[in-house]
Amino acid sequence: MDICAIVMAAGDGKRMKSAHSKVVHQVAGKPIVKWVYDALCEAGCEEQVYIVGDKQEEIRDVLGEGVAYVFQEKRLGTGHAVMQAEPFLEGRGGYVIVLPGDSPMVSAGTIEKALKSMEEGDFAAVVITASAADPTGYGRVVRDEKGNVLRIVEHRDCNEDELKIREINSSMYVFKTSLLLSALGRLSAQNAQKEYYLTDTIDILIKDGGVVGSVICDFEDTLGVNDRYQLMQASKIINKRILRKHMMNGVEIVDEDNTWIHSAVEIGRDTIILPGTRLMGNTIIGEDCIIGENTRLDGVQVGNGTVIDMSVATESIIGSDCRIGPFSHIRPGTLIKDHVTIGAYVEIKSSEIDEYTRARHLTYIGDSKVGKNVNFGCGTVTCNFDGVDKVGCTIEDNVFIGGNSNILASVVLGHDSYIAAGSTINKDVPALGLGIARSQQENKPDWVAKKNRLRGANYIKLDTRRSEV
Ligand code: UD1
Ligand code: CA
Repeated sequence: MDICAIVMAAGDGKRMKSAHSKVVHQVAGKPIVKWVYDALCEAGCEEQVYIVGDKQEEIRDVLGEGVAYVFQEKRLGTGHAVMQAEPFLEGRGGYVIVLPGDSPMVSAGTIEKALKSMEEGDFAAVVITASAADPTGYGRVVRDEKGNVLRIVEHRDCNEDELKIREINSSMYVFKTSLLLSALGRLSAQNAQKEYYLTDTIDILIKDGGVVGSVICDFEDTLGVNDRYQLMQASKIINKRILRKHMMNGVEIVDEDNTWIHSAVEIGRDTIILPGTRLMGNTIIGEDCIIGENTRLDGVQVGNGTVIDMSVATESIIGSDCRIGPFSHIRPGTLIKDHVTIGAYVEIKSSEIDEYTRARHLTYIGDSKVGKNVNFGCGTVTCNFDGVDKVGCTIEDNVFIGGNSNILASVVLGHDSYIAAGSTINKDVPALGLGIARSQQENKPDWVAKKNRLRGANYIKLDTRRSEV
């Protein structure tokens, strides 16, 4: 069967009050129009034409050159939008699916149902409809006494009886291509909005003697995003669907209202996701991990059995059986191997950390290569700027770094060496050696008494009245 799709995405999206095209706003980490594209691909429809307007570049950036684009110069309505694709449709047989570009909830299942109904019923068109609790603003589906679709009337053109109809037009359809072409040529803009309505093609097809079928789906699946509130609603609904999918796959999610997971994320079974966690981009998490609470991972790959608590990680790889956090910051380009411990207020950037290494507190590791079983004392800093470039240091296996040490750019700490606490190391330290770089301490006996500087117990009393704080 010859099937193609037209997606209407030229609207200004005025109600979004945005500098960007409405359909490139993201829902669960994916642009709205990409949801539509993916649903069409999943339903087996690869040949897609997008009707685009002034902000077409943004849509092209999202969808690339695998689909066709037609520019609609003036937005004269949904019928006019589809007319722009006439040259593409001419001479084609089969069916054409028409979808709005602003409906991220459209599913392959709904599209497949409409195609199936089209084939079985030999219809001129099939309209996808839904029952709305509040149909305000939507086109209403008018049926005859036998229940057959007669026409679609836009809200603004409805009479009193039609306003009471709760069945709405989703703006998703399948048409016989040749019949759609013949109906488009006869549309007029004689209506409340002076626009060419695509919905009027239904009336025309029926007057031509055709029968129009319908597929009724959940109202949620038809939800369009016209403003920021609907964007939030769509995000919530899609997020809950994503969470449910993971739960059905064996992931434990403690609080569905406070967990956000992007559509491309993968999670292994028996992993627990605690509240306040956001998993973004193409994050992949293994089995038996505990993530959260209050953790954000963006484009991070995590092995099995790793715990990440109250931490932020971006574009990095974290191995198996690691302990990360609380309050760790793993920045892009970091590779952490298995059994590594990264603790509170530790920041790592573009560095490689080998197995069993520990940096438990207050440490910065940048652009460096760290071996196995290294211990970072509290307050270690790799001073990864040589005055011109960012250059880290090399720390070989089994090195022990005492607290509050600075390791300067390019320095190599040889394997099994020790760094004395409080050192600023600016020369290589040989393997199995000790590096110590600090001034000698001098003690002055009885200095306090001599200088009359005894502090005693003169405690300062805090004023705890709120207004004074
Ligand atoms: C449309 C339907 C209405 C349906 C509702 C469902 C018509 C006349 N009405 O109304 O029956 O209940 O969707 O959400 O079709 N677009 C263009 N070019 C244009 C005009 C619109 O590309 O000239 C695109 C928009 O970007 C949007 C889609 O078509 O993605 C729908 O347009 P919109 O103005 O949102 O239609 P509604 O008033 O919501
Ligand atoms: Ca709309």
